[in-house]
Amino acid sequence: MNLDEIQLIEIPKIIDPEGRGNLSVIEKDLLPYEIKRVYYLYDVPGDSSRGGHAHKEQLEFLVALNGSFDVVLDDGHSKRTFTLNRPYRGLLIPTGTWRGLSNFTSGAICLVASSGEYDEADYIRDYAQFLLFKGA
Ligand code: TYD
Repeated sequence: MNLDEIQLIEIPKIIDPEGRGNLSVIEKDLLPYEIKRVYYLYDVPGDSSRGGHAHKEQLEFLVALNGSFDVVLDDGHSKRTFTLNRPYRGLLIPTGTWRGLSNFTSGAICLVASSGEYDEADYIRDYAQFLLFKGA
């Protein structure tokens, strides 16, 4: 998929009619895969960056459950930055995409719903290797 085609995915939001707050749900049909693992980043210092890798096969869906952060996607040819700052809108990262997460605000929480269990063999952590992998 071309980075230009990526759109944030709206997560259904249920607004309580009595003003008791909102509820969002990531259910079966929202993502093009079965979720195998959920993890989350939190207490990330504002001057730190996360990510800095690509996955060979796994797909990941990122949501800012609280606060905000930037996700820079890189397909080996171009880059595009997404700011995640809503708990009802997420970013589906295509397979084989280098990602960097930065500019975490205080208290920001990044939820990740992944298509696979943790598997270090699915990571490409070296950028030169990534470019080779992409044939770029
Ligand atoms: P990593 O995926 O590199 O984190 P990030 O992309 O957020 O910067 O993972 C950081 C460490 O945590 C690394 O040693 C692997 C470990 N880890 C697990 O053990 N299980 C997991 O599901 C994840 C995502 C990471």
